[in-house]
Amino acid sequence: MASTGSKLRPLGAHHQPNCTRTHQIGCLFLVFTTFFLTRLFDHSFTPCDLPVEQVRTSQDLVQVGPQSWPVRGYGSQLFLKIYVYDVEEIDGLKALLYGRDGKITEDACLKGQWGTQLKVKIHKLLKKSRYRTRKKEEADLFFVPSYVKCVRMMGGLNDKEINQTYVKVISQMPYFRLSGGRNHIFVFPSGAGAHLFKSWATYINRSIILTPEGDRTDKRDTSAFNTWKDIIIPGNVDDGMSKAGAPVVQPLPLSKRKYLANYLGRAQGKSDRLKLIAVATQFPNKLECPDLKFSGPDKLGRKEYFEHLRNAKFCLAPRGESSWTLRFYESYFVECVPVILSDQAELPFQNVIDYSQISIKWPSSRIGPQLLQYLESISDEDIEAIIARGRQVRCLWVYASDSAPCSAMRGIMWELQRKVRQFHQSAETFWLHNGSFVNRNLVEFSKWELPVPLP
Ligand SMILES: *[C@@H]1O[C@H](CO)[C@@H](O)[C@H](O)[C@H]1NC(C)=O
Ligand SMILES: *[C@@H]1O[C@H](CO)[C@@H](O)[C@H](O)[C@H]1NC(C)=O
Ligand SMILES: *[C@@H]1O[C@H](CO)[C@@H](O)[C@H](O)[C@H]1NC(C)=O
Repeated sequence: MASTGSKLRPLGAHHQPNCTRTHQIGCLFLVFTTFFLTRLFDHSFTPCDLPVEQVRTSQDLVQVGPQSWPVRGYGSQLFLKIYVYDVEEIDGLKALLYGRDGKITEDACLKGQWGTQLKVKIHKLLKKSRYRTRKKEEADLFFVPSYVKCVRMMGGLNDKEINQTYVKVISQMPYFRLSGGRNHIFVFPSGAGAHLFKSWATYINRSIILTPEGDRTDKRDTSAFNTWKDIIIPGNVDDGMSKAGAPVVQPLPLSKRKYLANYLGRAQGKSDRLKLIAVATQFPNKLECPDLKFSGPDKLGRKEYFEHLRNAKFCLAPRGESSWTLRFYESYFVECVPVILSDQAELPFQNVIDYSQISIKWPSSRIGPQLLQYLESISDEDIEAIIARGRQVRCLWVYASDSAPCSAMRGIMWELQRKVRQFHQSAETFWLHNGSFVNRNLVEFSKWELPVPLP
């Protein structure tokens, strides 16, 4: 009878440094070069798994700001194996990516709104990841791809089909059953979060959910977000702004900015946004709240949008339909100070980022002239300092490869690593004296028949 293998490897085997001496010398060289060439990265990143002592040395060298990742907050080494389910491997999975007829393309989803792009991006980056494994037996975590938000918007599946397809798909994953879903990762990048899968609370309420939305105040009874198992991911900033090199719109010097603050977005009947618009009417020279068109013939282009955004010292980010807002992330690329006006907002990578150093959060109940007075009282010197710290951290909002020194994907990998467990159990899994895992009928894991029964 075969054991499940991976979960039984000796404690700590996981964390052996896997660098040869040549690697180590190479790493040190890289660390020094990085230090001299780009002081920008003060994140004490190490390009490969260095023994702890060397990490410390390099960190002392490169630490400038308040952030020091990854050692503080995560540990010294990234060592993680993720299995990415293949679309063809599981009956029904294809429909969650391309619709019931398989006609929706990745490109169509990439062109869509932020919510739909992110799923495709994360899936693509994971497929190329150095932390990907092809062997289920050795995987720490399992990634279940799906583009349901896009598929739903394009009519590829309706809510009922989405629900049924998810259930069908996970019932074909014995490893999901083995852990009760605890080592399976799902991405839900839109405001609706995991609610897109109607019966999420029954089937994936133990799984790891990646979402930009950490809101517990959605209109439904139960929040799909759980601080201790789920991961907040950054919003997807337009590639033209976040890519390395010259962004489409460059930041303006503080002295050239016309406004103290701005809010670019529609009111959508939201009381906080309406309050902001009222303040802007009262102080039009200080707060810019233009009536922007995000659709129709006068639709604002991406470039014009960022040209507006960069024209203030502070970019206000009020709550929308839900609590997270993309504007918060965008502000780092035009270098205005984000002011969060959304009390329930949850932010990514809190293990390593001290948000009080790079942003302001103001009570949404105090939106009014008082807010402008407060912002006006902040000196340009202080503003510059906040902006400078934000500049060092913003690489963590960029959806680039996890082998880049600093990227959203790398941050997500560190977060995922913290979720890895040596052992998983569920109410329907049992184990014997010799490491064999069995189900209630004492059938050993390797012989479980599909579909496996779910709750
Ligand atoms: C473990 O024990 C069970 C029950 O005695 C047996 O059926 C199974 O073959 C054993 N597994 C291994 C890997 O030895
Ligand atoms: C979702 O699908 C499952 C399996 O088909 C079903 O039991 C459940 O009632 C469905 N949930 C909703 C909300 O329709
Ligand atoms: C998760 O689902 C199980 C099975 O339906 C249920 O018993 C449990 O209460 C759910 N937990 C939460 C937090 O919703």
